[in-house]
Amino acid sequence: MKDLFERCPELLAEAAPPLPVITRALRDVRPCELELAAALRPDPGRPYGRRVFLGTQAVEGMLATWTPGASCAPHDHGGSSGGVRVLRGVAVHRIYRVIDGALTLIAQERAAAGEVLVFGAGLIHSMGDGGGEASLVTLHLYAGPIPHMVVYDLERGETLKVDGGCGAWVPDDPAQILGRWPGFVSPCTILASGAASAVGLGLDGES
Ligand SMILES: [Fe+2]
Repeated sequence: MKDLFERCPELLAEAAPPLPVITRALRDVRPCELELAAALRPDPGRPYGRRVFLGTQAVEGMLATWTPGASCAPHDHGGSSGGVRVLRGVAVHRIYRVIDGALTLIAQERAAAGEVLVFGAGLIHSMGDGGGEASLVTLHLYAGPIPHMVVYDLERGETLKVDGGCGAWVPDDPAQILGRWPGFVSPCTILASGAASAVGLGLDGES
């Protein structure tokens, strides 16, 4: 990611860069094919393999090597904003809201190599390999550290608060689950509750 840091030294500053700086960095970067090939981290048992190449108080940078045909779970980024550059393949990006306790798909877009997707704080989204000729590889930049994320377990119908070091799927390790809510609860409701878990709190799962 040498080119990324040369083009955008703000990523190495102590203060979290504003979203336009992150967006510009993702648009401008010219990844080296050789460097990219060496950086891929396939993880066929999961939606994508994670390679965190930058983890400061200001920025998290991650390269995702997607499992062909896979999608991640709907999730947020714990109040962090950021963007994703499609480096290879085609991405399907889905945006959701919790409406009356239902996780509702409100938008879907496809992005090809070279395109940049931007998301603000509190957005619930998911991404997946859209079946391009080459499997999906994406470059992610998030402002600030991500202490936790919200992940929606579609199979069990639960909302999970998970450690920020997790990927966008239900963690295998229960120790990475910081809170668990029955049904689908919006991230702002979880934030407002200030709770580690919904047990006994009577959260109703509505946004
Ligand atoms: Fe995400």
